[in-house]
Amino acid sequence: MNLGIENKNVLIVGASKGIGKGIALDFAEEKANIVAVARSKDLMEKVKEEALALGCPSFNVVIEDIMECDTQEFAKSLIEKYGAFDIVVHNVGGSLISRNPLGTGEEWNYALKFNAVASIDMNSILIPPMIEKGWGRVIQISSISGKMLRGNPLYASAKAFLNAYVESVGRALAPKGVVLSAVEPGAVAFEGSYWDNFIKEGHPRVHDFLSHHQAIDRFGTPKEIADVVLFMASEQASFMPGAVIPVDGANC
Ligand SMILES: NC(=O)c1ccc[n+]([C@@H]2O[C@H](COP(=O)([O-])OP(=O)(O)OC[C@H]3O[C@@H](n4cnc5c(N)ncnc54)[C@H](OP(=O)(O)O)[C@@H]3O)[C@@H](O)[C@H]2O)c1
Repeated sequence: MNLGIENKNVLIVGASKGIGKGIALDFAEEKANIVAVARSKDLMEKVKEEALALGCPSFNVVIEDIMECDTQEFAKSLIEKYGAFDIVVHNVGGSLISRNPLGTGEEWNYALKFNAVASIDMNSILIPPMIEKGWGRVIQISSISGKMLRGNPLYASAKAFLNAYVESVGRALAPKGVVLSAVEPGAVAFEGSYWDNFIKEGHPRVHDFLSHHQAIDRFGTPKEIADVVLFMASEQASFMPGAVIPVDGANC
C-alpha cells in the first residue's frame, strides 16, 4: 500500500524518545520531510542521525519547551521557517504529573495544558493553512486511559478532554479535507520508559498490571503505535475524520 507520505512536510512535537521517536523513524522510512520538536538536543540529534540513515530527505531539529513558550507564536515561527505542514503529530503528554484527585486548579490546568491545550493552541495556527489547501492530517497521541478513565485521574480526564476535542473538532473539519484523529496507546515499553525498570527487575507489578489491564499479556512497542499514526497520516485515512483509535493490546 502506498501511503503517499513521501515528500510531505511533517511536524512531530515530542520526537526525541519513546513513541515520538518511533513515529519520527516511521515517517523517515516513508521519506517525509520532518521537523521534529523536543527539549533534549542530544537525543534529537541521535534521532536525526537514525532518520537520515533511513533515507529521510530532510530532518530539522527544533529545541523548544512547549510548556514554557507562547505556543501560538511558536507555531507561527515554525511555519515562517519551514512552510505550512501537511501532517502534524502531537505526541507531548504523560501521566507523570499530579495524581491528586483533589488537586488545585493549577494542577488540573497543568495536566490539561500538557496533554491537550498546548497542542490545541498550536493547531489554531497550524490547521488554517491545511484548510486553505484542502488537505491535512493532524494526529493527537491520546491514551486508552482517556477512554477507560482509570489510573491517574488528572491524566485520564485530560486525555478524555483531548478525545472530545478530536471527535467534535474532527467533525467540523471533515468537509474541509483535514482529518483530525487520535490514537490511544495502551501501555508501551521502551528503553528508559516507566515500565522499563520494572521489567528489567522482573518486578511482580508487571505481571499484575498486564494480567489485569492488557489482555494480550505484553507491553506494546513504539513501532506498533507509530504504524497506526502513519496510516492516519496517509491518503487512506480520508474517511476517518474525528476517529479516536485504541491501539492497546485489548485493554481490560
Ligand atoms: N508510554 C506509554 O505507555 C503511553 C501509554 C498511553 C499513552 N501514551 C502517550 O503517548 C505520548 C508519548 O508517551 P511516551 O511514553 O513516549 O512519553 P516520553 O517518553 O515522556 O516522551 C515524550 C516526548 O515529548 C517530549 N516532551 C515532553 N515534554 C515536552 C515539552 N514540554 N516540550 C517539548 N517536548 C516535550 C519529550 O522530549 P524531551 O524530554 O526531550 O523534551 C519526548 O520526545 C504521550 O502523550 C503519552 O501520554 C503513552
